[in-house]
Amino acid sequence: MVAKNMNDLVSLCKRRGFVFPSGEIYGGLKGTYDYGPLGVELKNNLKRAWWKAFVFDRDDIEGLDSAVLSNKLVFKHSGHETTFTDPLVDCKNCKQRMRADKLKQAGVCDFCGSTDLTEPRDFNLMMKVNIGPVVDENSYGYLRPETAQGIFVNFKNVLDSTAKKVPFGIAQIGKSFRNEITPGNFIFRVREFEQMEVEFFVKPGEDEKWHEYWIAERRKWWLKQGLSEENLKFEVHDKSDLAHYAKACTDIVYQFPHGLEELEGIANRTDFDLGSHTKDAEGLGVKAKVLENKDSSAKLSYTDPFTKETYVPYVIEPSAGVDRGMLAILNEAYTEEKLENGDTRILLKLKPHLAPVKVAVLPLAKNNEQLMEKAKDIQQKIKMLGIGKVVLETSGNVGKAYRKHDEIGTPLCITVDFETLEKEPETVTIRDRDTMSQIRLPVSEVLNYISNFFKYI
Ligand code: GLY
Repeated sequence: MVAKNMNDLVSLCKRRGFVFPSGEIYGGLKGTYDYGPLGVELKNNLKRAWWKAFVFDRDDIEGLDSAVLSNKLVFKHSGHETTFTDPLVDCKNCKQRMRADKLKQAGVCDFCGSTDLTEPRDFNLMMKVNIGPVVDENSYGYLRPETAQGIFVNFKNVLDSTAKKVPFGIAQIGKSFRNEITPGNFIFRVREFEQMEVEFFVKPGEDEKWHEYWIAERRKWWLKQGLSEENLKFEVHDKSDLAHYAKACTDIVYQFPHGLEELEGIANRTDFDLGSHTKDAEGLGVKAKVLENKDSSAKLSYTDPFTKETYVPYVIEPSAGVDRGMLAILNEAYTEEKLENGDTRILLKLKPHLAPVKVAVLPLAKNNEQLMEKAKDIQQKIKMLGIGKVVLETSGNVGKAYRKHDEIGTPLCITVDFETLEKEPETVTIRDRDTMSQIRLPVSEVLNYISNFFKYI
C-alpha cells in the first residue's frame, strides 16, 4: 500500500510532527525542512539501520564524521568548482529561472509557456561561505555538496590509523548542501539534506565485480526497510549522463508519489578521486584523467602487504539520501483502511525498527491513581529494555489513542485496565497496529514479548 499522492504525506507529516517547513513563521526558506519530534526519531532509526549494516555488521568498513565546512582546495581538486553545475535558463517574459535539462517541453517556459528564454548558462550548485573575520576574494570555503570528499581526503589518515587492507570502505552519514535551482517535491529535492555514503576502495580490475556486489546488497537493504519489490527498480546511467568522476553508475530508483526517481546511486568512481587529491598522480600510475595537484601534501596510494604492489585504489560508492529514503518509507507505509463500522483508519505500517514510537502504554482511566501508577511502572520497565521511545499515552479515550498511534506507526499499544489491578497474576492487553488484534499477557511475560518483537537482525 502506498500514499495516493504527496499531499497525504505532507499533511500527515505536519499534523503529527514528522516534518515542518523550515522557518515557517517567517514564510519559510525554500528547499529546507525541519524534522519534528517523530521525524527525528524516524530519521535516526533509518540512519542507525544503515550504520548497523555497513559499520557494525561488517569487518571491512570503518566510520568517519568529517567537517561540513570545507577548504576550497578540496572542491577545486575534486572537480566540483568547474563541473558541479546545472544548465540554467531565464524566462524573459515571466522572469522565472529553470533547469534547461528539466523543462517539460524543450525551449518553452514551464511557468508561462513563453519561448523567449535565455541561452543556458552553467550554474554552480555549491554553497560558498565566508570563513574568518576578513572578507576578501580568498576568504571563502564551501558547505560540502557531498560527504564523499571528506572520506577521500581522510583516506590516508584512516588507512594509517586502522591498518585496513584493500578491499575496505569508509562510511559517513552527514549533511550536505546544494543550491538547487528548483527544489521541490517535499523533502525529495532540498538544499540542505543528509547523505549516507560509503566509499569502498578496491584493487583496479576488481571494480566491476564490486560494483555489481554493492548494487545487489543495497537493494536487499532497502527491501529490509520495508520498500516493496514492485516499487524499486534499477536505472543504469547512459555514458552521457554520468557525473564527472564516474565510469558507471546504477541508480536504485523508487516509485515516489511524484514519479520514479533516484533513491540511491551506486557509482564506479574509478581512481579519479584519490588520483585527483594525491600528489604525484602520474608517478603512481593513476588511470583516470586527472589534473596535476600541486597543493596536496599526501600520496593517496596503497601498498599491498603481500605482493608489495603499489596502486591508487578504485572506488565503488553507494550513496543514499536520508531525506528521500524517509519519504520513500513513509510513502510505502502509508495505508488507508476501511473499518467494519464504515470509518477509515490511517496507519503507517512501518517496520518496527524504524517506528518513531515503539510502544505506547495506555491507562484505561486517567483519573484513577492506581491505574496511572501501574501504567507508569510498566512504561518504566519497558524503557529499560532500550528499544527506543516508549510513551505513556494519556490524551483522549483508548479508541482515539489507538487511532493516533496507528497514524504515527506505533507497532504496539499496551492497555492497563481494571483487570490488571484486580486479578492475579497482573495482566495487560497488547494490541498489534497492523491486525488490531489484542492478546492478554501477564506483565511478567510482556517484557520478553516486546524484546522479541523489536529484535532487528
Ligand atoms: N557522492 C555522490 C553524490 O553526492 O551524489
